[in-house]
Amino acid sequence: MELDPNKEYLSVGELSARSGVSVSAIHFYESKGLLRSHRNKGNQRRFHRRELRLLSYIKVGQTLGISLAEIKDAFSVIENKKEIKVSDWKKLGKRWEKILTEKQNLIEKMKSQLGFCIGCGCLSLKDCPLRNPDDFMGKEGQGPRILLE
Ligand code: FES
Repeated sequence: MELDPNKEYLSVGELSARSGVSVSAIHFYESKGLLRSHRNKGNQRRFHRRELRLLSYIKVGQTLGISLAEIKDAFSVIENKKEIKVSDWKKLGKRWEKILTEKQNLIEKMKSQLGFCIGCGCLSLKDCPLRNPDDFMGKEGQGPRILLE
């Protein structure tokens, strides 16, 4: 869908068409405080065009396995701001970068540990008795302890 580049406010249908995110998902994100809209004179919901950028962050973030709670936390730097300035986008970018770096580190760690014991409690690999004898790591907490430490 081609949007009029001069159009500042978009209907939910336009937002959906341009972003590739369903109308119901947009309403869901809005109900979670991740997107904002206002009502026009005809009582129709309108979204500022910048919500497309936020929606893109959400869409890509979800694809990368970033939780809505993490996204909401990152978005808190622009919460209650009527106008989002360049400096606000930069702050949001920094938060986003931190989340991505944490994900990236975990992915790298997982990649490097493929084929080795990850401390998950399965005791099914040859090196489990060496790295996690008798699943002692289970006493330290849940999940794959070697990956999460
Ligand atoms: S891989 Fe699961 S405990 Fe070693």
